[in-house]
Order: sequence, then C-alpha cells, then structure tokens
Amino acid sequence: MNIVFAASEGVPFSKTGGLADVVGALPRSLAALGHQVSVFLPRYRQTKLSDPAVVVRSVTVPFDDQYRFASVVSGGSQNGVRFYFVEYPPYFDRDALYGTPAGDYPDNAERFALFSRTVLEASKILGVPHIFHCHDWQSALIPVLLRTIYSEDPAFKEAGTVFTIHNMGYQGLFPPDTLPLLMLPWDLFTMSKMEFFGQVNFLKGALVYSDFITTVSRKYSQEIQTVEYGFGLEGVLRDRASTVTGILNGVDYDEWSPQTDKFFAAKYSPQDLSGKATCKQDLLAAFGISTADVKLPVIGIVSRFAAQKGFDLIAQIADRLAREEMIVVALGAGDKTYEEMFVRLNKQFPNKIAVKVAYDNAIAHKIEAGADMFLMPSRYEPCGLNQIYSLKYGTVPIVRATGGLDDTIEPWDARTGKGTGFKFTEYNGESLLLTIKAALSAYQDETSWQALMRNGMNKDFSWNASAREYSKVYEKVRQMRRAALTPVPEKVSV
Ligand code: ADP
Ligand code: GLC
Repeated sequence: MNIVFAASEGVPFSKTGGLADVVGALPRSLAALGHQVSVFLPRYRQTKLSDPAVVVRSVTVPFDDQYRFASVVSGGSQNGVRFYFVEYPPYFDRDALYGTPAGDYPDNAERFALFSRTVLEASKILGVPHIFHCHDWQSALIPVLLRTIYSEDPAFKEAGTVFTIHNMGYQGLFPPDTLPLLMLPWDLFTMSKMEFFGQVNFLKGALVYSDFITTVSRKYSQEIQTVEYGFGLEGVLRDRASTVTGILNGVDYDEWSPQTDKFFAAKYSPQDLSGKATCKQDLLAAFGISTADVKLPVIGIVSRFAAQKGFDLIAQIADRLAREEMIVVALGAGDKTYEEMFVRLNKQFPNKIAVKVAYDNAIAHKIEAGADMFLMPSRYEPCGLNQIYSLKYGTVPIVRATGGLDDTIEPWDARTGKGTGFKFTEYNGESLLLTIKAALSAYQDETSWQALMRNGMNKDFSWNASAREYSKVYEKVRQMRRAALTPVPEKVSV
C-alpha cells in the first residue's frame, strides 16, 4: 500500500521527544513489509539535508489576509522510505520546533495548518496515498480537511486516514477566530466537531474525522477513555471506541543497543556484562562525580522536564532518598519548574543528585549504558521509550504502572527469577520511595541482579511486530473506504 506519514518531527531530521524516534523508525519497518512509505516533515532550522532538491515549487495556502506559498523539497530515500520537507522559512526557520522557554510560538495554528495543507496539495502532485497516517495535533488538520473542504476533491476519494495519538496532553488549542483565519468553515465550531470549551481543538478534529485512531500502548488506549487520563476528550474517544486501538511502539536497535552503540566507553552484551562497569565510570566522570564512588548504585533519568513525567514525586522524597546509598544522575530540559528543582537538589545534595540541564543525545546514551537503574515515575505515559531502551542496556527500570510503562515492564520476583523491573501504582512520594528502596536492596545480591538485567536485555521490542499491527489497521481502513464508496444497490420493487 502507499502510505504518507505526516508528522512534526522525525529522527534524524528533527527531534524533541519520542515522536521523532517513532517517525524515524516505523516507516522503515513498514517499507520492509512491502509498503511504499513517504514521510513529510517541516524543514526546520535544525533539519540538516545533504542534497535537497525542490520537487514542488509552489503550493498555495490560503489564509484570510493573504495567500502563502510553501514549497516541498526532497530529502531523498533512506532504507526504502522517501522523505519530503515542507519549506516555508518564515514559519519553520526558527531556533526551536514549537516555542521558546517563554511559551509556544503564537502562530502555531498557522504554522501547522500550512504544513497540513501543503502535505495534501503536494501529494496530489507526488502521489495520493491509500492512507494518510497523521501524528499528534500538528498534523490533525489533515483528516479534518479531507472530510470537509476537500471532500469533493476526486483526487482524495479513496484516501483513508489513520491518526496516532502520542500524547493527549498536547491538543493544539486556539481561539475561535483561528477557523476563519485558516479559511475553515464555521460549522466546525460545534461541540460534536472541533469546539472545546470555547476554543478550537485540533486534536479533537482528528478524533472526530479520522477513519481509525491508534495510540502507542494498549493500556493507554484504555486509560484515555477515562476522565483521569482523557484530558476532556474521553467522551469523544468513547464514542469512537470501535475504531480506537493501542499498538505498542517498538525500538530501533540500530540506534539503541549496548553491542553497537558508538556513544560510550565500552560495549557489552548479556553474555559479557563486564563493559558496563567502564561505562559507569565514564558516566560518573561526565557528571563530575569522583570515581571512588563507582560501587554505589546509579539511578539514571533522561527526560523532557514536564509535569507528565512525575518529577514532583522526587521533590517530595528528596531528603530521604539522599540518605540512601545511591547516586541519581539526571539529564533533562524543558519546564523551568523542574529544571530549577533539579538544580536546587544538586546544590543541596551535591554527592547524591547530579543534573545536566540540557538536551544531549550523547549523554542520553551514556546514561542508558552507565546507570544501574532507570527512573520514570510518570504521572501518565502513552508509551515511553527510555524504559524500553533501558531494558536492552541492562539498566533496570523503576516505573510507575501507567500506560506503556505498565505494558512493557514486568515486576521482578526474586523467588522465581522472573521479571524485568520495579513498578509502583499510587501516585505519591511514599510509593516511589518504597519502590526505589526495593530496587536498591535487590541490587545488593549481585547474582540475582545480573539475572534481572539479563531478563531485560533478552527482551525484543523491535518494530516488526508493531508494523504488522499497523498494516492490519491500514487494511481495515481501506476496506472501510471501499465500503463507503460502493453505492448501495437500489431495491427493486415488484
Ligand atoms: P517523550 O516523547 O514523552 O519525551 P519518550 O520516552 O517516548 O518520551 O521519548 C523520549 C526520547 O527523547 C528518547 O529518545 C530520549 O532519549 C530523548 N530525550 C528526552 N530528553 C532528552 C534530553 N534531555 N537529552 C537527550 N535526549 C532526550
Ligand atoms: C509521546 C509520549 C511518549 C511516547 C512518545 C512516542 O511524546 O509522551 O510516552 O513514547 O510520544 O510515541
């Protein structure tokens, strides 16, 4: 089948979080299954292209005050996947993808509306796919446009849409006058369509208009249909429950494997774990911690700093945690509240809690390799990739049992020798502390700890199985489209 991916970030061209990892890897596995896959991304300042060629010189995007003209450049093919970039420098040639520390760019609605329209118009020239596979609010207008102002366009008659929710916490909320600004019809501004507490909600539009909705773990697909996790859209999702499914993200083991990783000091494998000690020393040195401490268990954190990730729980227990025999090394950036919180904890407990406020892929890999444990106490987590990377690196995950964290980590049972990590359910500091203590105590028994590490390292979360699940969804959507287009035979009266 021909599939077009439309997304706002993708490795190796742009990244702020796990969406980029997914968009960088899933298309390749779909191509390996025989699909023709093209990926459309915005061309940001950080997007490095070696030999860009203009393939669509001008796409007209109407706004109420003026027309804007975007173009599309080809980034060539990688592993059987074509990459196209929507170019409109006034919108995308900026320092960041979505905003500055002061907040989101005020013209994000226009930026991603222009992106979405350009993907549709360009595909009329480059090839209309069987399926537009859109991701998160930034490409949510594609299914909306296809079923509203483009609904009479014969070019798109057979095109189906799949929408993947990577995070319900980001919906693309804008004031009502965004609709006329983007030349979208006013009748979208009703509760059954895009209106949401007086604002226009891009994500809601996609949930209403897509043929099929997926999210990135089975558990999260259920959670988002509840008030606690639905961010106000649980009702919309429940209405569409028969076309909502959870497909767990995979991992690109070419990027994330201790046997091949180029970012750290020594390689290791389940058969020979010895290199991990070298990685640990290297990690502690990178954080300026005296290597005499190398026997202490190290708990790693790599994260966007956002309320979703549960770091307020660490603040609740910091003084008691700091009394334990362990070191925390954290890498993260984002929300000022958590950046400042970690810097404060580092000042208070300099030998116990180390932090780098940065976005740094090399250090992220060093933490995966050098830490003994990996902490993700998320309030909610659609899938989470770092805990799955951690399994491969023998870096035992300590997670809250929510979303993909719950689906991917099995609790360690020292008696049976089964399990891959440590989980807690209640969202509070006490539960977190108890679980960290259980992990620290298990670490004392070297033989059984190594068994636990190997359990994780031997797990396989490669993309192949998930790509097959997506193929099934695409097939279903094709059948739905065909059925919608087949005229119902008239009843013959006798
Ligand atoms: P989310 O998408 O919610 O941020 P995921 O666990 O799915 O969470 O994916 C996060 C991805 O972003 C991982 O590849 C992780 O290594 C990377 N990442 C997050 N924060 C940083 C950081 N500060 N420096 C480098 N990489 C980071
Ligand atoms: C989101 C989620 C994360 C998920 C990622 C990729 O950013 O927060 O849990 O792994 O998307 O799907």
